[in-house]
Amino acid sequence: MQLFNSYDLAGLDMPNRIVMAPMTRSRAANGVADVLTERYYSQRASAGLIITEGIAVSQQGTGYLFTPGLYTDDQGQAWRRVTEAVHAAGGRIFAQLWHVGRHSHVSLQQAGAAPVAPCARRADLCLGGARRARPCRHQRTARARYRGSGGDRR
Ligand SMILES: Cc1cc2nc3c(=O)[nH]c(=O)nc-3n(C[C@H](O)[C@H](O)[C@H](O)COP(=O)(O)O)c2cc1C
Repeated sequence: MQLFNSYDLAGLDMPNRIVMAPMTRSRAANGVADVLTERYYSQRASAGLIITEGIAVSQQGTGYLFTPGLYTDDQGQAWRRVTEAVHAAGGRIFAQLWHVGRHSHVSLQQAGAAPVAPCARRADLCLGGARRARPCRHQRTARARYRGSGGDRR
């Protein structure tokens, strides 16, 4: 296997085996990918595959200031411009979608609400260090119910 050999990723033809890891940039001033986002990713289009920075799927799922989301029309159109710029430069790009759960912070939540996570366990760490981590709210999911029934020792 050679790094610069092509690779068929389940039908996606990668010209090489270099995959750009997702890296949070914190450069989207109002949570919307912008012209610098387009430039950043299209400049890296020679990678076999780009995986974007983590993209919040909702306001509640946001974990860091100035990270772009993908839950409003504006954000969707902005990411479309980014992907078109990457494709025009000959690249391939996947979105990394995330909801950061307990790793969010009250300062990023609407009305200062506690972050929502599968169980109400405070994060060990969050941006700014462990001391900034705040209690989170419990979201009653199937996984949480499984844990509650003693199905998981954690
Ligand atoms: C500045 C920075 C931002 C990162 N942001 C993300 C991210 O948004 N999503 C993610 O899954 N990993 C993120 N990571 C982790 C990287 O994608 C990558 O997995 C890691 O740096 C790989 O190297 P390592 O395993 O040797 O640390 C980030 C890493 C760095 C250094």
